[in-house]
Amino acid sequence: MNEWPTPPTFPPLPPHELHVWRVSLLPREGRVEHLRGLLDNGERIRADRFAFDHLRARYTISHGVLRLILGKTIERDPATLQFETGDRGKPALIDGGDVQFSLSHSGELALIAVTRGRRVGVDVEYTGRKMPEPGFVERFFSKAEIAAYTALPQDQRLDAFYAGWTRKEAYIKALGEGLARPLHSFDVSLAPNDDPPALLCVHNAPDEPARWQMRSLNPGEDYAAAVIAEHPDWTLSEFSWPETWEPR
Ligand SMILES: CC(C)(COP(=O)(O)OP(=O)(O)OC[C@H]1O[C@@H](n2cnc3c(N)ncnc32)[C@H](O)[C@@H]1OP(=O)(O)O)[C@@H](O)C(=O)NCCC(=O)NCCS
Repeated sequence: MNEWPTPPTFPPLPPHELHVWRVSLLPREGRVEHLRGLLDNGERIRADRFAFDHLRARYTISHGVLRLILGKTIERDPATLQFETGDRGKPALIDGGDVQFSLSHSGELALIAVTRGRRVGVDVEYTGRKMPEPGFVERFFSKAEIAAYTALPQDQRLDAFYAGWTRKEAYIKALGEGLARPLHSFDVSLAPNDDPPALLCVHNAPDEPARWQMRSLNPGEDYAAAVIAEHPDWTLSEFSWPETWEPR
């Protein structure tokens, strides 16, 4: 696994870069209370709807750190940031200039992807080393993906499944269409180690794959993740958000 370093100071975000931050969602002493102070009323109401403390904490940490990262990126007070939600649920910054972001959380990790002037989607899944339920691949993957998946030996299928799932979700999230975009209407590559992975084909939109660049991410053992963003070429940097202090 690569390192995902914590930078000593907050890194600037030039237009040709894409930053993915790995955020631990463990509720260290005082962390949830501090980050809750950054949330707006709507976010606090959403947090309070979770029946379990650990889910409330995960929501609060991921949205609080999202505010810190975006606030530093556009040099604004994180508590004053405002968000709007697209027709199909994709959140965006109001008055955020060209900054675009995507958030994903699973298990004890969140990933936050930030870039400028291009649509971006990130997805992380805790795999728990669990194979998908019977029929899941047939239900959600495209014909080409099902064929690629079933051609693999059994011992490669777990990684291929999560590689495919996170790549598909990342693309759906970049588009912002949620599940209005049928998951079987486009094909991604499945081989876990084929970095860079690819959006191979979007049915009825032959030019679409050339518009996007995809990367797989390795944020931790038993996690799979992928990020996709529009061209022109960008370079990826991976960072860990500190659990106990904030970079200046
Ligand atoms: C909502 C969805 C966009 C992603 O959901 P998910 O993978 O369960 O959750 P993630 O943690 O990755 O992403 C959630 C975040 O995405 C963002 N989001 C919500 N709707 C979004 C949309 N339409 N577009 C982009 N981002 C969206 C929000 O920031 C949300 O965070 P929040 O709930 O804390 O506010 C949607 O694609 C979905 O429900 N997918 C699951 C469907 C499935 O079964 N897929 C099988 C894949 S093979």
